[in-house]
Amino acid sequence: MSDKWIDLTGRNALVTGAAAGIGRATALALAERGAEVLLLDRDGAGAELAAAAIADAGGKASARAIDVTSQQEWDGLGDWVAEKWGRIDIHVNCAGIARFDRVDDAMFDTYREVFAINVEGSLLGMAMALRFMREAGAGAIVNVSSTASLKGNPGMASYGASKAAIAHFTRSAALECNRAGTDIRVNSVMPGFTETAMAQQIYDQFDAKMGGREATMKVFSSGRSARPEEIADLIVYLASDRASFISGSVIACDRAQSA
Ligand SMILES: NC(=O)c1ccc[n+]([C@@H]2O[C@H](COP(=O)([O-])OP(=O)(O)OC[C@H]3O[C@@H](n4cnc5c(N)ncnc54)[C@H](O)[C@@H]3O)[C@@H](O)[C@H]2O)c1
Repeated sequence: MSDKWIDLTGRNALVTGAAAGIGRATALALAERGAEVLLLDRDGAGAELAAAAIADAGGKASARAIDVTSQQEWDGLGDWVAEKWGRIDIHVNCAGIARFDRVDDAMFDTYREVFAINVEGSLLGMAMALRFMREAGAGAIVNVSSTASLKGNPGMASYGASKAAIAHFTRSAALECNRAGTDIRVNSVMPGFTETAMAQQIYDQFDAKMGGREATMKVFSSGRSARPEEIADLIVYLASDRASFISGSVIACDRAQSA
């Protein structure tokens, strides 16, 4: 065993939403611990930039543009993995969007968009990763949910429901993997408010409606927001062998916001 507490040397990892925010920080953190990372995002140029930052730091990374809602694009990616890697050790579903809506007649456009990306996108990713992991009998999947999944979410109803769905699919997939006798672990993290482009978009909306950033932070009562790296550290841990007995767990990383 390596003397590093977490050593991912020789592991192949896919990360969606890797052009920005938590996904980008996760890709960097996985590579820093030795994994070879394929950064996936519909912002292909952003994913390329993040992959270049990893390479500059001496890590192994490449990038690919993908819309996570497209079955066809996942199939194409599956062909790439079969040809280049032959297996997937780690898969992180981080791509996601937040939209403001409430439960009424007008919500269906936001609901469909949010569920297509947050839920179906994660399911398509899991399905593809599981195809390879079942063949190998092992692997680790981490799905990014949110503390918004824990309670009603007035003003972002579809978003909260989509993140609750991700948590539930995580538990079911973990049980299925256990019952099939594999060593595939499936977990989920629930970040609290984290400083990213998505957070800025939410601040802007709340600023307009609720009188400024300070008022917004009171709503999300953790005292401060997270740095993306703080969420990435938990994802890396769950993806590593250090978390060998953790599966089917949905873990908050929110500095007591949901306590
Ligand atoms: N920032 C927060 O406060 C917070 C809190 C809890 C959970 N989360 C979750 O963390 C994850 C990452 O969020 P973030 O804050 O880093 O957001 P972000 O907006 O900074 O990054 C999201 C990334 O996902 C990509 N993406 C969006 N739709 C896509 C699609 N259809 N196909 C491929 N890529 C797509 C974007 O291009 C972007 O690079 C999301 O799932 C989000 O719901 C964020």
